[in-house]
Amino acid sequence: MCGIIGYTGPLEAPKILLEGLSALEYRGYDSAGIALCMEDSKICLAKKTGKVKNLEEYCKKMISGSAHSGIGHTRWATHGGVTDVNAHPHRAGKVVLIHNGIIENYHALTDRFHLQDRLISQTDSEVAAQTLNELYTGDPLEAIRSLIGLLEGSYSFCIMFEDQPGVIYAIRNISPLVAASTPSGSMLASDLTALIPYTRQYFVVPEQHIVKLTPYKVHVYNLDDTFSKDYPEIMTVNWNMDAAMKNGFPHFMLKEIHEQPEAMRNTILPRVSKGLPCFSDDGIPDHIFENCDQVQIIACGTAMYAGMVARAIMQPVLRIPITVSIASEFRYEEPLIDEKSLVIIISQSGETIDTLAALRLAQKCGSTTLAVVNVKGSTIARESDYVLYTHAGPEIAVASTKAYSVQLAALYMVSCRMALVRKKYTKEQAANFLGELLDVIPAMENVIAQKEHIRDVASHIIQSPDVFFIGRGLDYAFSLEGALKLKEISYIHSEAYAAGELKHGTIALISDQVPVIAIATQQHVYSKTISNIREVKARGAYIILLVKENAVVDENLADLQIRIPDVADHFTVFPIAAALQLIAYYTSLGKHLDVDQPRNLAKSVTVE
Ligand code: M6R
Repeated sequence: MCGIIGYTGPLEAPKILLEGLSALEYRGYDSAGIALCMEDSKICLAKKTGKVKNLEEYCKKMISGSAHSGIGHTRWATHGGVTDVNAHPHRAGKVVLIHNGIIENYHALTDRFHLQDRLISQTDSEVAAQTLNELYTGDPLEAIRSLIGLLEGSYSFCIMFEDQPGVIYAIRNISPLVAASTPSGSMLASDLTALIPYTRQYFVVPEQHIVKLTPYKVHVYNLDDTFSKDYPEIMTVNWNMDAAMKNGFPHFMLKEIHEQPEAMRNTILPRVSKGLPCFSDDGIPDHIFENCDQVQIIACGTAMYAGMVARAIMQPVLRIPITVSIASEFRYEEPLIDEKSLVIIISQSGETIDTLAALRLAQKCGSTTLAVVNVKGSTIARESDYVLYTHAGPEIAVASTKAYSVQLAALYMVSCRMALVRKKYTKEQAANFLGELLDVIPAMENVIAQKEHIRDVASHIIQSPDVFFIGRGLDYAFSLEGALKLKEISYIHSEAYAAGELKHGTIALISDQVPVIAIATQQHVYSKTISNIREVKARGAYIILLVKENAVVDENLADLQIRIPDVADHFTVFPIAAALQLIAYYTSLGKHLDVDQPRNLAKSVTVE
């Protein structure tokens, strides 16, 4: 949450900062602001509510003259409403600061330093700026170290001091930060997308470290008064600029839906050896799959729903308990996990704070941790015992699409490898499973090619205040993700229910023309699901049915149908996911909403 960028070097800073903020905007878009060190060494601030576009317009009017260093921020509001004053940067005396995270003890700091009368915003971040100004006596490192000793919470800060022109300081505690020293200057950001126009080489700022950016060098310090002994490992970006552009698509979400078949290939194929799933190149040994007596899956949102599908695939084959937990709940429970548990952490960003906290708790309990993560070098990836990277490339739209499919692909492969090493599958069964997994790629392509039909389907729900999703077994697990996708970008109230559960209460909400999106792809519960569909149909529901190509359906049952290719039952999630994503996309589009940056949300949830 919140995007941060800092630059110092020979180039014009406003352009770099504003372009960087546009690239980071998906992290938060309530307001945006920049601070520039001008030629006379004075720091000039510009901040505006709304999108970066507003700030750009404002800067055109307000800023004249040249600047070669500065910091910028896009905000996802936590403390204080969405106003120009609450937007970052915050100034306090010589200090100008931007912040990502939450300062939990800001009340105590306000009292301790008697800041009440000086604060002009309602933010915890301004309290940090004022406190730093109180501590600053001319030595930035010393003042920052003293500040860190006082703060509770999660944060990354990017700071300028008016008497240190051309120098930028940053500190990281939990909230992500990457930095790079490039021929065009030194820069840092909360996310790589802002840096790739200038460099492919970067490093992840280590937690509890301070970085100092001068025009041609990035220094790294620990919190004692020394240089950090080990300069962080320099990493290379493994995707190109195109991957972070729309490339002719009207929205990132539509582009990312189309990228799924390729992302699936990239995730699966490098892990196939002799026709079997194999993780030796990932450094994941078989003993972690052999020695566990339970699997605990932990994630948030879409990643958690991927975990629910994985559980339904794994448990019947492995015959050991597989539990799925919401990370924000898990971290406050007393979980029943120990040294014999394999904990699978799923996260696209690798930075979701609740998921990270759950990972740390699992490690405290002595469990082996395996992370399924998309962003290379992210905190969860670095802290887990083992990592299985998904190769989806950057996912920019707030609504997760390709990340979900590749998380599932990775989890299906884990399930298959576990079944093989635990002798629940023969080599032949494992090879068949893998073959079926690969078959879903053309099936997804088939569904994506039906997008005009799906657009028409979506036009039938655009006016509805509520939409219900129903299914049984795996189809229920898919429905949960379908409902999340729809509500997140169309603002239509949508809920998923196990189809057999409806008549225990929810059916009271079904009346004339209420859309019910029914998924019926699982043969062993097919006739039961059809009966449940009839029950809602009898109460006037408008039925949108998702079934396999070869299903024989009574012509009076559904008002509309989407047919998916005839893949094996355990694999229908992939084409169904593409169909549900397209329904959500076209509904949002039809309502003229901001598909890629829906209200109140941000891509990477780095606050609790
Ligand atoms: O980066 P993560 O996978 O950890 O993010 C988890 C959720 O915040 C994320 O999946 C969220 O639910 C998406 N916006 C859903 O589309």
